[in-house]
Amino acid sequence: MEKLTIEVRQPGEVEPDALAIPFPQEDGLSNGTRTLDERLKGRLQRLAKDGELKGDLGKTVMLHTDGELDARRLIVAGVGKREDVDADTLRTAASAVVRRLGDVGGTVAWQLDDSLPLSLDDQATAIVEGTMLGSYSPARWKTEEKPRKPVEKILFYTDAPDGLAESAGRTARVGRWVNAARDLANSPPNELTPQVLGERAAELSGPNLTVEALEPGQIDELGMGALSAVGRASANGPRLIVLRYEPPQGAKGDTVLGLVGKAITFDAGGISLKPALKMEDMKGDMAGGAAVIAGIAAVAELELPIRIIAVVAAAENLVSGDSFRPGDILRAANGKTIEITNTDAEGRLVLADALWYARREGATHLLDLATLTGAMELALGDFYAGAFANEDDWMKEILAAAEASGDHTWPFPLHPRYRRYVDSSFADLKNSSDLRQGSPVLAAEFLREFAGEGPWAHIDMAGPGFLERSRGDYLTQRGGTGYGVRLIVELAKRLAR
Ligand code: BES
Ligand code: ZN
Ligand code: ZN
Repeated sequence: MEKLTIEVRQPGEVEPDALAIPFPQEDGLSNGTRTLDERLKGRLQRLAKDGELKGDLGKTVMLHTDGELDARRLIVAGVGKREDVDADTLRTAASAVVRRLGDVGGTVAWQLDDSLPLSLDDQATAIVEGTMLGSYSPARWKTEEKPRKPVEKILFYTDAPDGLAESAGRTARVGRWVNAARDLANSPPNELTPQVLGERAAELSGPNLTVEALEPGQIDELGMGALSAVGRASANGPRLIVLRYEPPQGAKGDTVLGLVGKAITFDAGGISLKPALKMEDMKGDMAGGAAVIAGIAAVAELELPIRIIAVVAAAENLVSGDSFRPGDILRAANGKTIEITNTDAEGRLVLADALWYARREGATHLLDLATLTGAMELALGDFYAGAFANEDDWMKEILAAAEASGDHTWPFPLHPRYRRYVDSSFADLKNSSDLRQGSPVLAAEFLREFAGEGPWAHIDMAGPGFLERSRGDYLTQRGGTGYGVRLIVELAKRLAR
């Protein structure tokens, strides 16, 4: 979807290609629906009576209107039980509506419903997100994919609170960045190498956003032995991609948000090679880095008044005669030595150097996003990511932003008693434990050693970052989800208040 325009209108001012209404699962029609039904000569009543219109979440019924309404079509979008309606519900309903429209596209009018347990503003935001994320296609690389006519405009029929169209318009701009992050995650690893990711990031530079991509020589000069080792086996060398955002109207407060992303453009596991099944999905092991790049770009586009430094560690974890090996001892940029016990635990290695760099460049509050452990996906599936933090207030801030944004995140613990499982007999730390226990928390304990002084949080998004299959809500497509972009924007908004 290229661009989506949002307007608040009164019914009848323009004829949309479709009028959409949220329809709860309950006996009888609501007030708003009843008025429409009178003009439709009772067709909705009859459909309901015949059991064809039940209001199940994600289900739609489409009617052609023959001039009875000021819209060519009516799409009744089920939202499930009224009392359970939340933002995710409306995202799902909006996604079902665009998918039902199929090739029609054009203008969709939504009649908002003030009897739903969600403010009109929140309804509009969710509908815009559901429309944009629901119409995303990952099939860019098909040669005969017929381009669908996109939904270009959403009209909201409502006695709108002031500013609803404007805030929904900002949501649409963020939505484009979410889909941009999905494009990056879905890009095949032969196309999207660390160098190319750096080039894509550099294309975003503008008056308030500066971008540089440090090359292997510079990475070595900085003493980043961990990032360097992970990237060494590939002919496509590593990059440290650094993006700095300076708000045009100056920042509110002294916070410098440091965003750090894992961007393994392909994770074969290295010498500790992964099994073949689904290894292709490891092109998505850069989803955290993609979210960081798209997230800072979205914040810059919205010109939010907060300073941000983003550091993305990009590398390809392959096998070659020059691979790093189990048994190797690496020296990270902060001086700590790491014994390699599993080359597939590479994410924490590249993040170690990136966290150090973000702190050195002045980040006061750190947040890293990474598809870090398979066990986190086993634990939480495709919906929640897990969060770790070294400070309670920072954890609360992250969780609140995450929940408000739709990028669901659940807290996990850190504790010094876990530290011994990453003790090495030879070096300061080892990068993986030989016990098949607690791998997400051990990874987080490892990262904590590189996060320096001050608040730091880590989000392990291995589950919701890249989907094996449709999630059955508004993320109907396999592949990248853009998880983290909305969270970053929401966090930046809150920190700038
Ligand atoms: N990129 C993987 C984690 C992953 C697995 C993300 C599945 C998404 C889906 C990561 O680099 C990895 O391989 N982690 C290992 C760590 C282990 C060796 C300690 C894992 O989780 O098995
Ligand atoms: Zn790995
Ligand atoms: Zn990985």
